[in-house]
Amino acid sequence: MNILLASSEVYPFSKTGGLADVAGALPEALVKLGHKVLVVSPWYKTLKAKNAPLWIGDEWVPFDNTIETCGVGVLEQHGVTYAFIGHHYFQRDSLYGYEDDTKRFCLFTRAIPQAGARLNFVPDIIHANDWHTGYLPMLLEHGWHMPSGYVRKPSVFTIHNVQYQGNSGLDETLSWLRLPGFLRDSYMNYFGSANAMQAALGFAHRVTTVSPTYAEEIKTPAYGYGLDGTLRHISGKLSGIVNGIDTDIWNPKTDGQIAQTYTAKSLTKKVLNKQALCERFNLDVNKPIIAVVSRLVDQKGIDVFIDGATELLWQDWNVFVQGSGEQDLEAALYSLTARNPGRFASFVGYDEALAHLVYAGADTLAIPSRFEPCGLTQLIAMRYGTIPIARATGGLADTIRANETGFLFDHLNVSGLLWATKVARDAYDNHSFWQSMMKNAMAQDFSWERSAQAYIELYKSIHG
Ligand code: ADP
Ligand code: GLC
Repeated sequence: MNILLASSEVYPFSKTGGLADVAGALPEALVKLGHKVLVVSPWYKTLKAKNAPLWIGDEWVPFDNTIETCGVGVLEQHGVTYAFIGHHYFQRDSLYGYEDDTKRFCLFTRAIPQAGARLNFVPDIIHANDWHTGYLPMLLEHGWHMPSGYVRKPSVFTIHNVQYQGNSGLDETLSWLRLPGFLRDSYMNYFGSANAMQAALGFAHRVTTVSPTYAEEIKTPAYGYGLDGTLRHISGKLSGIVNGIDTDIWNPKTDGQIAQTYTAKSLTKKVLNKQALCERFNLDVNKPIIAVVSRLVDQKGIDVFIDGATELLWQDWNVFVQGSGEQDLEAALYSLTARNPGRFASFVGYDEALAHLVYAGADTLAIPSRFEPCGLTQLIAMRYGTIPIARATGGLADTIRANETGFLFDHLNVSGLLWATKVARDAYDNHSFWQSMMKNAMAQDFSWERSAQAYIELYKSIHG
């Protein structure tokens, strides 16, 4: 099959979170199953790659009552073709966080079919991800000036996070996308304004989320962020496929970014990574480390973790937090670090190499999420024999086996968290039990192959 996958970020070229990991790894897994994949993503100023894409020309993209010129860059890697859309909208310091984000990603979305056609890529399936490409299914269905080979092609839309929806004014959005006015009364209309996520839910032929539990949760008001009604309405075409991880990038046996490689058979070597982490951040090496690697946003429950931090020290953990995001959370981390030398350390910022060392060097990883569509950090941690302590929600509940590969708690508050960390702390002191838990965690198969197969089944079910 020819599959076009559209994503606003893709590892290793751009990344703010797990969406990039998925857009980087799933296409490679699909290629391994014998399919052809074109990934389309913006050509950011910050684009990271060993090889820069090759500019192959400009496209005229009908947009906002005018024609915008977008450059198209191409690159091949591990059997996957990447097309990057260039425009000054993407020549900014960050990927997101601007007032005109919805407009920027409408332009990106509008350019996707044209970039595909430019490469003579005729897709059997178009797979869009999150609100940034949410209007793609609707464009394929109703768009004017669509290249041949793209009109009414079957589409899949994956929700990685229903909290971010891409809101804008109805009329301006129709005009940006050059869509007919009757679509004002369609799924794009969310109580009088335009909503990219809801448009995707309505127009995509199939909708998936990145874990089965999250697919159920978002149909309830507590998790649906206002779209639970729509999600219940479209539940016949909604399902959950759990993410995998790239087991070549995340492999303690071969990882070049950690202090000492190890396997389940040479677990004693893992401690050298702990030593390296402790030396770098001035932590007492004799206590177990509970770590966090996370975006510092409401979703991740880091506020609860911070509220419980002093008691975590009383439970005799050392704490290490790596993350960046909301300023008040960053400030709280600086303050805890200053007040607890040798016991609490933090790295505020984004650092891929350090994350590898943390996964390898920590004993446990805390993931107290309010909601978690899938979560990749628990999968990575388990692969490194680092035991997750997580809230039983979304993909965390689907991928962690309580008291076998990790610890789960139900209620997101300080007592819920501290109850689970206490159970884990006691388990840690039982050396043989802890060793068997680490081995159980490391023996799990979180490779993409199975999930990629599930996507293929889904694609086949709508491919005529
Ligand atoms: P989300 O996408 O919601 O942030 P995931 O668990 O799916 O959560 O994915 C997070 C990804 O981002 C993981 O690959 C994790 O290692 C990485 N990550 C998060 N914060 C940082 C950071 N500060 N530095 C480096 N990597 C980070
Ligand atoms: C989102 C979710 C996260 C998920 C990732 C990749 O960022 O917050 O849970 O793992 O997408 O699907």
